[in-house]
Amino acid sequence: MIRPRKVTREELMSMSEEALRERYEALKREIHYHNYRYYVLNDPVISDYEYDLLMQELRLIEELHPEWVTPDSPTQRVGAPPAEGFRKVRHPVPVLSLANAYSEEDLRAWFNRIRRLDPRVETTDFVVEPKFDGLSVVLHYRNGVFELGATRGDGEVGEDVTANLRTVKQVPLRIPVDPNGPPPPPYLVVRGEVYITKEDFRRLNQELAARGERTYLNPRNTAAGSLRQLDPNVTAQRPLRLVTYQILTGEGDLPRTQWETLRYLERMGFPAAEARLCKNLDEAIEAYRWWLERRDQVPYEMDGVVVKINDLDLQRALGVVGKDPRGMIAFKFPAREVTTTLLDIQVNVGRTGRITPYAILEPVEIGGVIVRKATLHNFKYIQEKDIRIGDRVYVKRAGDVIPYIVGPVVSARTGKEKPYTPPTHCPVCGEPLYHDPDEVDWYCVNAACPAQLARRVEYFASRTAMDIAGLGRKIAEQLVEAQLVSDVADLYYLKKDDLLRLEGFAEKKAENLLRAIQDSKNRPLRRLITGLSIKGVGPTIAALLEQHYPDLDALGRATLEELEALEGVGPVIARSIVDWFSRPRHRVLLEKLKKAGVWPVARKEEEKPKPLAGLTFVLTGALKTMTREEAKAFIEAHGGRVTSSVSRKTSYLVVGEHPGSKLQKAQRLGVPTIDEITLYRMAGEEPPPELLAGAEKIEEQTPTPQNPTPPHLPLEGI
Ligand code: IVH
Repeated sequence: MIRPRKVTREELMSMSEEALRERYEALKREIHYHNYRYYVLNDPVISDYEYDLLMQELRLIEELHPEWVTPDSPTQRVGAPPAEGFRKVRHPVPVLSLANAYSEEDLRAWFNRIRRLDPRVETTDFVVEPKFDGLSVVLHYRNGVFELGATRGDGEVGEDVTANLRTVKQVPLRIPVDPNGPPPPPYLVVRGEVYITKEDFRRLNQELAARGERTYLNPRNTAAGSLRQLDPNVTAQRPLRLVTYQILTGEGDLPRTQWETLRYLERMGFPAAEARLCKNLDEAIEAYRWWLERRDQVPYEMDGVVVKINDLDLQRALGVVGKDPRGMIAFKFPAREVTTTLLDIQVNVGRTGRITPYAILEPVEIGGVIVRKATLHNFKYIQEKDIRIGDRVYVKRAGDVIPYIVGPVVSARTGKEKPYTPPTHCPVCGEPLYHDPDEVDWYCVNAACPAQLARRVEYFASRTAMDIAGLGRKIAEQLVEAQLVSDVADLYYLKKDDLLRLEGFAEKKAENLLRAIQDSKNRPLRRLITGLSIKGVGPTIAALLEQHYPDLDALGRATLEELEALEGVGPVIARSIVDWFSRPRHRVLLEKLKKAGVWPVARKEEEKPKPLAGLTFVLTGALKTMTREEAKAFIEAHGGRVTSSVSRKTSYLVVGEHPGSKLQKAQRLGVPTIDEITLYRMAGEEPPPELLAGAEKIEEQTPTPQNPTPPHLPLEGI
């Protein structure tokens, strides 16, 4: 097997002709094999990116030695012959493929090449579309009726998958779909992509796995596998979608630009590619970046964009190299899934003792980053995917997710791969591992396991928990190794001399760390709860617990039933909390925290006295500092009630500016009236200063009967 890599022309030129010829033949064989795996078996063993690298190298050699090229070279046709099982269809025109650009540089080089061929390129505009990662299809319509649908096959001959395509809801069976639309062209052959959204892909794979059937590797693979089912009923069950982007041929008045083509396809009722019209190459690059940023938000998988010259005449005039039209190019995103060799499987001991396996990989670049390790999730995952040491594996790194192993390339096995046996003992402390049959994971339950302790100290000090600046993984491990801490509470008993004995610690660093530890004593209770590493209790549950338990003693007394009754805490977490507090060593830990003064108490909304309790108020006129609603809320917050009309039961009428008829009624009934300031004072609140300044003055001038200050406050006896 040839390892795909980026090869320069210089490198090839430096080889002897004999060696180069040998390499050329080997490359051809290799690519033929990959074509077969990809097109016939739907089971590729290398990633698209690696395939492209092989093709690039082949093309470079052919450029150096055009005399070697024979019609059977993979560059001379698009793919492999169609599989058995479907009727073959000869396409009316070649169904071409695309050259790739992997960088802005590549793209500009393409532009410069075609600019030399045709000066019109200089001022052309471009259409930039997503490059859909699906399966290319060709749809034939005669007088508006869908009569034939084919896969691309080798670009000359495809497979007749009409029956299957009919089950894809987005494939119009008659165009225009809207009966009031423009008349259908006499003949139209449309090219598009059958694909599956990321969400549907995930769900389908879940269903397949649940039924014990083989799952798919990626959305494209899924679309291909689903469309090429011999039984259309199976295809019909699959969530396939269509997008169209090209008119291959047709009769009638057809569009002259790519942009119009997309609009035309829409008018006929096809889902047309979302696209951006760009005035020049810089705008096209801008559009690429725009999509690259949105890559994770787009519901379908896209592996780049396609940059197309808008003017279709110019596109045609530029012609074709091999099978790639010169007038458009795929501008690929950095690859996110590659294959590499799984060198070893190791395990990590987490802060709750959970043992998680991870992969040691032959270093490989994914999207600009060298990846050496990847997660394997858990032991069950390794077993289910039958991942073996020495396997060639697919590794994926997307967005912010940690790189993970998608699965093995089963067909690349040599027989030397070794099945993996999970450890039975903790790799750090050597104690036997424990497995709850109801759970997937294995645990080291040794309380003294140094690996667990270091992880717990690290987590305790992290931003999520107590936020101790400067205390990261390395120092946590040092502290554990030097036996300076045997639990997280020991952090608060560290002495400067202890720290100075550690490697890399001088006065300043030791002082800073001690200060950071001291500063963390005042963190709110929820952070301390989080920092305890109680299984299942993260920041959210910790915040919830803080609302119900004022301190760790109270939480420690909580019963299983009590905890389960809290919304968001299920039986598993409740059990885990009760278990945690029942352990003697945790009792010791809590005592030490308390002694060190690390004992936050939840700041509960204090039960405020409710001075207006039992009183009924009516409001009239405009108050100065609150609206009607605010005044109502204010009174209610202080225990009072507000009604809308004055009666004998009314305790007070609150009078603002321009009072209404309620004032007379209150006076008639003998209901006392108060002003805004009095309302504040009765409620036990200080009136806002602006109210006082103005009011005091008025009172001094004209103490009116409408505005008396009730003489007897507070209100005992009312
Ligand atoms: S235009 C002459 N536009 O990518 C080439 N192709 O790698 C015509 N593809 O075989 C293709 N999205 O199946 C075009 N917006 C798009 C595309 C697109 C995906 C596929 C297509 C093609 C392959 C080439």
